[in-house]
Order: sequence, then structure tokens, then C-alpha cells
Amino acid sequence: MSEPVFAAADSPLRLLPKVELHCHVEGAARAATVAELAAKHGVPLGVDDPDDLYTYESLADFLNAFATVCSVFVEPEDFHRLAYEAAEDAATAGTQYREMFFSPGFHLDRSVRFDTMWSGIVAGIADGEADHGVRTRLIMDIDKPKGIGPAMALLEAARVADRDILIGVGGDSTERGVDHHIFEPLIREAKNMGLKTCFHCGEDGPAENIAIMVEAGLDRIDHGTWLLDLPDLVKRVVDEQIPLTSCPSSNVEIGIVESLDSHPFPQQFEAGALVTLNSDDPTFFRFDLADEYERIAATFGYDHEAMIKFRNNAIDAAWLDESDKAALRTEFANG
Ligand code: ADE
Ligand code: ZN
Repeated sequence: MSEPVFAAADSPLRLLPKVELHCHVEGAARAATVAELAAKHGVPLGVDDPDDLYTYESLADFLNAFATVCSVFVEPEDFHRLAYEAAEDAATAGTQYREMFFSPGFHLDRSVRFDTMWSGIVAGIADGEADHGVRTRLIMDIDKPKGIGPAMALLEAARVADRDILIGVGGDSTERGVDHHIFEPLIREAKNMGLKTCFHCGEDGPAENIAIMVEAGLDRIDHGTWLLDLPDLVKRVVDEQIPLTSCPSSNVEIGIVESLDSHPFPQQFEAGALVTLNSDDPTFFRFDLADEYERIAATFGYDHEAMIKFRNNAIDAAWLDESDKAALRTEFANG
């Protein structure tokens, strides 16, 4: 296997101002922070070196590590630090606007209250924006394997959240053994509440899961790696320009695809899909969004203009109003 590519500090793709639509705040936890908070709260990590947590061969392995990392965040200030450091690292990657997931299902399990994580994360992103210029909005992910009951309860809990900050509802974790039809009421109710919707699908599950969620009215597809398996669905996704938040390197790290050069990203783009590039869980995979841009350019031979097109797709696919998108385009065009 070839050595992974990283974007140098002065690389044009690192310096390119970017928008990211698929990144988990818990997936941006620094190993050193996880170790410190584990010591603070007496949480066993099961490894001597926290870096060793971040090694996996499957989504199941990855989700176990994700749950362990989540277990060190207990108090509002822990969530503040998590979100603040995520913004600091995003600035280094050239990310200026981000729609970021948080996954309450992994925290409520440990009796951490919704308000504890919400208040901490909201304060962390505000301070991250003030100090590092990264604007962040939040998407609440439900934990799909828990089923529709806990998902609807979470949506209820989220009614108290400030709607200028909470802009959408998503669903993460494995697709295996999950009948995606059960989430139709969740999508309907989220829309009734004025929230946008997205779901991880077509990652460790088939393209049929994407079809079910598109039929349910999904606004954006997270991953959608196996979209091309269903030509009728491709036509609909292209005709309706339903965006894909693609995470090719994440798919390699978790073993969804064998190698970056076998990822269907270029074919999805050529088919006319609104594809965007994203890091998913940057610290878990030891790369950032700039590295992802650099790898995709190097692997598929895209020039800088093509990479700007993918960045612009992310602006188009963002859940900002049209005037905010126009402002971002102007800001980015002016350097
Ligand atoms: N949670 C965080 N990253 C994820 C991924 N790649 N797939 C499913 N759930 C996740
Ligand atoms: Zn994800």
C-alpha cells in the first residue's frame, strides 16, 4: 500500500478556504485530551497510550473506540474543550464553516444529560469562532441501532436547543441489522420542527438504505458510498441534486473500500452527483480536511480548479440561507 499523503502547511489545498458538512465533534477529540479527561474522571481507557485507541479494521471496531472516547466527556467544560479544540484544528485545515455532528446517544447512555453536552458544545463552538474564526453549526445524530423510540425521544429533548445553532438531525452508527424504514416518522417530525435531515447510509449497508431514506425525504446523504449500485436512485439523486457528504479516506480507514483509488467518488462526480469532501472523524484517522483534499487530488489527478469545484459544492450543499452562501462565495473569492 502507498504511503498516505498529507497537505503541507503552505499547500494551496490547505490554504484553500473550505466548508465541511460531515465531521463528528467526538471524532475530532485529540488523543491527549482524551487521556487527560480519562485521568480526571477515573475512566479506564483499556490502553496505555491513548493513540492506540485509534486503530480499527471495521466500523464495529471503530464504533467501540468512538464509545470509549465519548466516555471521558462528563461535564459541560469537557464538552466545551472538545468543541473548542475541534474548531482550533479545523482552522489549521483551512475550514471556515462547518456543519458538525454530535451524538447524544453515546453520552445519554452514561447518564450525561442533554443539557450538559449541549451547553458545553455550544459554548465551545462560540469561543472557537471568536478565537479561530471557524463558524460551526450543529447536527444532532441519533444512534440508529437503538431504534425509533430513543430517536424520537432525542428529537423531543432537542426542542429546547437554539435553532440558530441546531440546524439538522442525522443518524449514525452501523446500518447492519437496521431496517431504515423505521426512521420515516423521525424524518417527518424533524421537518415539522424546521430541521434539515441527513443520514449515514450506503456506508456499511447497501444502496437500498439510501433509497429508503431519499424516499423518506432526506435533505442530504452522508457517505452514500454504494449509490452507484442503483441506477434509478442515481438518476433521482442527480436530478434532485441531493448532496452526498463523501468521506473517501474514512471509508478506507474503516475498511468500507479497499483503497482510495478504488473509491467510487470520481464515478459519482462524473454521473452528476453533488459530491462534497469531508474528514468524518479527523483525529481518529490522523488526518484533516486539507489532507483529504490533497489525497483526492493526488489519487485521482484532479487539478486545483476541480478541487475548488468540490469546495463550492459544499457551499451549495450547506444548510445556510442563500444570502449567507453568497457572502461565503464572495469572501472565498477575495482570498
Ligand atoms: N460515527 C462516527 N463516524 C461514523 C461513521 N463513519 N459511520 C457511522 N457512524 C459514525
Ligand atoms: Zn460520519
